[in-house]
This record gives sequence, C-alpha cells and structure tokens, in this order.
Amino acid sequence: MADSGIENLLHEDRLFPPSEEFAAQATAQAALYDEGEADFVAYWKRQALERITWYKEPTEGLDDSNAPFYKWFADGELNVTFNCIDRHLEKGGDKVAFHWVGEPGDTRTITYRELYEDVNRLANGLRSLGIEKGDRVAIYMGMVPELAVAMLACARIGAVHSVIFGGFSAESIIDRVEDMKSKLLITCDGAWRRGSVVPLKENCDIAMESTPSVEHCVVYKRTNQAVSMTEGRDIWWHDLVAGESSECEPEVMGAEDLLYVLYTSGTTAKPKGIMHTTAGYLTGVATTHALVFDIKSETDVYWCAADIGWVTGHSYIVYGPLANHTTSVIYEGTPDYPEKDRLWSIIEEYGVTILYTAPTAIRAFMKWGVEYPERHDLTSLRLLGSVGEPINPEAWIWYHENIGGTVCPIVDTWWQTETGSIMISPLPGVTTTKPGSATKAIPGITAAVVNEEGEPVDPGSGGFLTITEPWPAMLRSIYGDDERYVETYWSQHAGLYWAGDGAKLDEDNYLWILGRIDDVMNIAGHRISTMEVESALVSHAAVAEAAVVGATDDLTGQAIVSFVTLRSGVDESDELNDELRKHVATKIGPIARPKSIIFTPDLPKTRSGKIMRRLLRDICDNRSLGDITTLADADVVATITAQQAEARRSDEE
Ligand code: PRX
Repeated sequence: MADSGIENLLHEDRLFPPSEEFAAQATAQAALYDEGEADFVAYWKRQALERITWYKEPTEGLDDSNAPFYKWFADGELNVTFNCIDRHLEKGGDKVAFHWVGEPGDTRTITYRELYEDVNRLANGLRSLGIEKGDRVAIYMGMVPELAVAMLACARIGAVHSVIFGGFSAESIIDRVEDMKSKLLITCDGAWRRGSVVPLKENCDIAMESTPSVEHCVVYKRTNQAVSMTEGRDIWWHDLVAGESSECEPEVMGAEDLLYVLYTSGTTAKPKGIMHTTAGYLTGVATTHALVFDIKSETDVYWCAADIGWVTGHSYIVYGPLANHTTSVIYEGTPDYPEKDRLWSIIEEYGVTILYTAPTAIRAFMKWGVEYPERHDLTSLRLLGSVGEPINPEAWIWYHENIGGTVCPIVDTWWQTETGSIMISPLPGVTTTKPGSATKAIPGITAAVVNEEGEPVDPGSGGFLTITEPWPAMLRSIYGDDERYVETYWSQHAGLYWAGDGAKLDEDNYLWILGRIDDVMNIAGHRISTMEVESALVSHAAVAEAAVVGATDDLTGQAIVSFVTLRSGVDESDELNDELRKHVATKIGPIARPKSIIFTPDLPKTRSGKIMRRLLRDICDNRSLGDITTLADADVVATITAQQAEARRSDEE
C-alpha cells in the first residue's frame, strides 16, 4: 500500500513546507543536522550532557571497541526517575504529568509531585518484597497510570522491567517471564476494553502455574471483579504501598545498566527480548521527543495515543515526555467507545496540542467519517504525528485536513522497538513534507538505502533500509542471546544495522518506507511473526501444516491470512475454521487472530521443501505470480488461487 501512486505525490502541490509558526526554529534545527553530520558522537554527547542530570557526568561518548556491542556514555552515573520526576519538583511539582481518562468515563489528574510519591511508595514496597538492583520484574497491566508508576518504581531501584502488552495471552506471559526469570509479576484484576473486562489476573494465574521464578504477584484493583488471591504469593497493590514512605533514595545506575527489556516478534516463533540501557536510551528519547514534537513544556498538552505495552508507549508516553516535564494525556480504552468521537472529545476537553497516533487508527477514523471530528473543536491541535507503519498518502491528507485543520505539520516517524527512539522523521521547523514519506534521518542519525551488496542506491531507486552509525538509544543485545543479536542485525552487511524494512529513495533523497521485507507482519502497526502464528496453528490437533502471510489490507495495512493443511481424516468446516482462529488468539493474543484461514490439500513448496510464502502473499494480493517453475506442485497454486478468489468474493459480499 505504501507503494501506491508515489509518482502522483511528487507534484509540487503536494509539498508541505513548514508554516510560519514553526519556521521560527528553522535556523536552530538546520544547525543540528550540520552538527550531527560533522561528528555524531559529539552531537549526542552534547545532548546527553544538556538534557540529563547526572550523578557523575560521562567523559566518554561512544565506545565501539567491541562492536556491535556498542556502549554510550559508559562512565556516567544517573537515575532515570530522578530525571523524569525529582528534578522537576522544584520548578513545577504541581504541574500535571498525566491527565488520565478511564474508558468508563472516570478521570484522574496526576501531578509530578503525586507521581513522585506514588513511584516512591511502590519502589519501597518492591524493596520490601526483596526486589533489588538487577532483578527482573514483569508488568502485565491495562492502561492505568499505575502501569507507568510500576515501570518507574522499577527504574527507581534499578530493577529491570519487562512490560507485557495487556492483550497478550497467558502463554505469551509464560514465554516472556520464563525467558527473563522474572521474580515478580505486577498486574491488575482486569482491564476495561469496549465496556467489558479483560481478565488480567486470571491470565496471570494460568501463567504462574508454569513460571516458578515468580515469587510474588502484585495486583492493582481497577475493575473490581472477584479474583483469586493466593496466600503468601499474591498481594494487593494498595496493601503493599500502605504505610510506605513517599521518599525513596534512587539507586545510582551506571549508564550501561539495563533499564528494560521489551519483547518483539522476529522471524522465528520465539519473540526477542530487546535490551535497552539507561543513559543512551534516556538521551535518545528526551532529545527526539523535544525536537520532533517541538515540545513547549509550559503550554503543550501532548497525547501519544499508543499503548504503553509497546515501545511507542515506553518512549513517548513514559520516558521521553516525563524527562521533558511534559503534560500528557493517557486514555485507557478504544477510540470507538462508547462512541466513535471519543478521541476528539478528549482533545477538546483537555485542549490537546499534539497528537501522535498510528495510520491504522487514522484509516479507521476516515472510514467512520468526518462527522465525528466535526462534532468537536480541535483548534487546540498544533502538531500531528504518525508511527508504526507506512502511512498511505490518502490517510496523510485526510489527517492533515480533517484533524489538523490544514495548519498542523505532520511528523511521520519511522523507528522500531530496537532503535528505542525516533530515527527518521521530519523536524517541523525545517522539513518540507511529502505525504507518505518519513522524509529524512533526524540529526545525529545516518540512514541509507542499500542494494544486495550493501552499497547505497541512487536517488530514484529502492533497496534495504540500514542505519550506518550507532546511536545512543539503540538496543544493546537480545536478552540471553548475543549471537542472535549479531546475526539478526549486523550480519547482512558489515557494520550496517539491518532494519528489516524495504525503502525507496526519491530524487530529492527523501525516504519512503515500504514495510517489512522479512517474515514479520505489521498488523495495525503491531509486529507479529508469521512463524509465531504458524506454530500456534500446528499446535492444534487438527492441523498438519500451516503457512501464514501478511496480505495487504485497506484498514490494518496487513492482515493475517493462513493456509492450513488438515491431518488426514479431519474434515474442513466453518466451525473448525472459527476454532482455529480462536486457538491462535488464545495461544498468542487477540491481535494475532487470523483474518482468514484457507484450507488447502497441500502448500506450495520449492523442490527443496521450503514453503513459498512470497507466492502465497502474491496470491492473496492478487499479484502476477511470476516464475513458479521451481514449484514442486504447480497444481497446488491453482487450487489455492481459486480458493483465495472465492474467499475474497465472500469477504466483499
Ligand atoms: O516496518 C517498520 C514499521 O514498524 C516496524 C517496527 O515495529 P515495532 O518495533 O513494533 O515499533 C513500532 C513503533 C515504533 C518497522 O520495522 N514502522 C514503524 N514506523 C513506521 C514504520 N513503517 C513505515 N513508516 C513508519 N513511520
């Protein structure tokens, strides 16, 4: 989809230069590119010294002596929560950190001082449970402020958090907790989602049967349904913090101490634990949050409408905004509950000035119609952001006109769980934008589109997206698997970080990200591995073999389509089809439920027996099939093509 109609977009009338309001920063922003280009290490070191309050300032910038195990600011000492909370108290302890909006309509306002007290009480509570620096803590909660509090309490005492998205299943919790041998699990009784309750504690109970490392489970009461509490193991959050002091000495952390691990899907069935460390990560998120969103901490009301369970929420709801003393909105629920104008009503109510969301959401808003935003006064908005997947030009223009009132610049930000912070994006003061292009690498970052040989392609051509120099917020490794880290990111072309995305460079050297070129799907901005879904499918007794592809989808960018061969003696039926889709949702989580499952007597394979996923993708997208002479059985293709055409027809009906 990102590829659609690029030529059309290069017309002069589709260029959006910075407006007067932002042009004031033009000179300063332009200078940053020059500074980054002249010496990226010195540039980032200056950012680190200026934006972070250190216990001990680093003398070092980049240590590349053991590449690709890079270190940044390695002899510095700091605490992330001191930077996100304590240092703001004197200047503005009463300033609102979070305006929180619950899905059922309840609201809370949390100042920096209140956040300080909440974090410290919990941090003391965690210490009372024996949690120490370096211990791992898994967090599986809904979008309540306490999720941020839990992360910060860990960072306060040097424990490593691993947030598990609240939409994942019990089995996904097990994988993640087991991989890190987490000592503690923090959860809620339940989470609100479209008026019903997601049973978070119940999922944890199932998981904890298989996670012997977990000594305690702390439960925050949100939805009030009955949950079972195991004596000696489970503790209510309110009981844990009762009587704890609101002062807690922050742990002094080394710059390269582990801050958190966040799991993301790769090309195998096992998710990768992406490791982020303390100083480089904080430097990256604080700098990019300030520059890309042009944050004016005195006046902005900023809203990143992502879930904290993904990296976008870690970097741009929690760490970046708090480091910059920003007032943010956090919303608990879905944008269509109770009505499809929920986002717009929140923007009006809180006077939101900056909105950061994903193309899938924007396409859903388009589908629902302009009458919903039109019900509300959105003139407080001054800047819009997009993240997570390629934004198609139509959605960009719609966002610009109907939400941004044609005056708000749009920053289309490309980055990944692995990169930690935004890498490619316009800066609103200087970059002329083109709908659908993430434009250029930000200051201090060097991106290149390369060919198979790792050589930069010429303007006007496509290739593989790489980052050519290390950067502070980069992942340090994959938890427990250094080899996989080297192999996945640093082995395609010597010295270049392999992003896994395809990209085009246009004649003006603007980047157009085309999406994943590996076996990772991007469903509504969420990364899901084809292998993960395949292994969930084959774990069902009826399934002999499965192949999964991401097919182009108008709303969610890609949709999961599965081709399934049943065991002999098992008959295909609509009921089985539903059951298999449900089975995947139970195994991984509802986001991984295939949109469609196509039963097929066989799967197309090369003569060496490899499933031809590319071919299946082409069939789904109705593209010409090209050369299929290496296929073991060309008949299979004909059968699948016919079935897929049938499925598409009934989808349309
Ligand atoms: O394919 C790219 C896509 O999302 C992937 C990273 O996913 P994740 O680690 O879950 O992080 C998402 C939020 C940062 C990338 O490899 N992606 C992300 N942002 C964009 C994008 N594709 C195109 N344009 C973007 N702005």
